[in-house]
Amino acid sequence: MKKVLITGSGGILGSELSNRLNELFDVLALPKSSRNNFLDITDFDMMYSIFKNFEPDFVINCAAFTNVDSCESNKQIARNVNVKGLMNLLKCMSKNSKMIHISSDYVFDGKNGNYKENDMKEPINYYGKTKLEADNLLMGSNSNYLIIRPNVLYSSNLNENHFLSWVVNSLKEKNEINVVNDQISNPVYVTDLVEVILSSLFVEYNGVYHFGSEDVISRYDFALLISRIFRLDRNLINPIKTSSLKQVAKRPKKSFLNCNKIVNDLKIDLYSSEYSLMRIYNS
Ligand SMILES: NC(=O)c1ccc[n+]([C@@H]2O[C@H](COP(=O)([O-])OP(=O)(O)OC[C@H]3O[C@@H](n4cnc5c(N)ncnc54)[C@H](OP(=O)(O)O)[C@@H]3O)[C@@H](O)[C@H]2O)c1
Repeated sequence: MKKVLITGSGGILGSELSNRLNELFDVLALPKSSRNNFLDITDFDMMYSIFKNFEPDFVINCAAFTNVDSCESNKQIARNVNVKGLMNLLKCMSKNSKMIHISSDYVFDGKNGNYKENDMKEPINYYGKTKLEADNLLMGSNSNYLIIRPNVLYSSNLNENHFLSWVVNSLKEKNEINVVNDQISNPVYVTDLVEVILSSLFVEYNGVYHFGSEDVISRYDFALLISRIFRLDRNLINPIKTSSLKQVAKRPKKSFLNCNKIVNDLKIDLYSSEYSLMRIYNS
């Protein structure tokens, strides 16, 4: 049985990926925040000993410092996790193993949208800069690698912290929410991303791939769609502009990704946000 090491297994992607892969592989998936068995990619000695004992065939790096505003005020921690953490993993990996790393749409400046894998990257916040540095580090290494670049992730677990859970839980509690109508993306249902990652463990494909939904949608329209499918009160959702939030980190406006490469190479279908939300609601 092939061995898979999953980092960041307490997160939105890492948790669902760990559950799915557990059925098929010998998986080592330790969360960072755990009292006993934890995994910290910034701790080289810990990583070295984990690799020596487990000897993974695949490493799936879902660990990241993902709070975009905190990255601005905690630059050293952000770079330690998002760049040096990956460097530690690469140093510990054997030549025969493969790294599957998760990048972000935030490597782009968001001026034009519809970004292809090789388009110019000019991140406008520190989180995006660290994600780009990590991509470049991996591409410049001698490792066998796959980089998947998704945007806005959401899952069916409404106890986790993501856009869908925020909208559903707020509306259920009859709280008004202000949602930006000038940030446009093609959001990713984590279950679909997990299936793409799973397929990469069976079929050899390398390099960089974008992954998102079939449609392109603003956060505000996505919130309205959520309210319709979950039968919640749309009148509680107010459209606002990003500039009115006065966030510490700038946000790319049109960060939607062109996913033609993954569709053509892997012969997969992309799903609409409506279909993905229906699947969640019906389950
Ligand atoms: N969420 C999105 O909308 C989105 C969009 C595009 C790309 N991505 C990328 O997708 C990947 C997965 O994101 P996600 O949404 O699953 O993020 P997440 O829910 O924030 O999970 C990230 C996980 O990494 C862990 N972590 C942080 N520092 C670590 C360290 N030093 N060692 C080991 N683990 C550490 C965190 O643990 P603690 O919580 O215990 O600190 C957390 O469980 C990331 O690379 C992210 O950049 C996410």
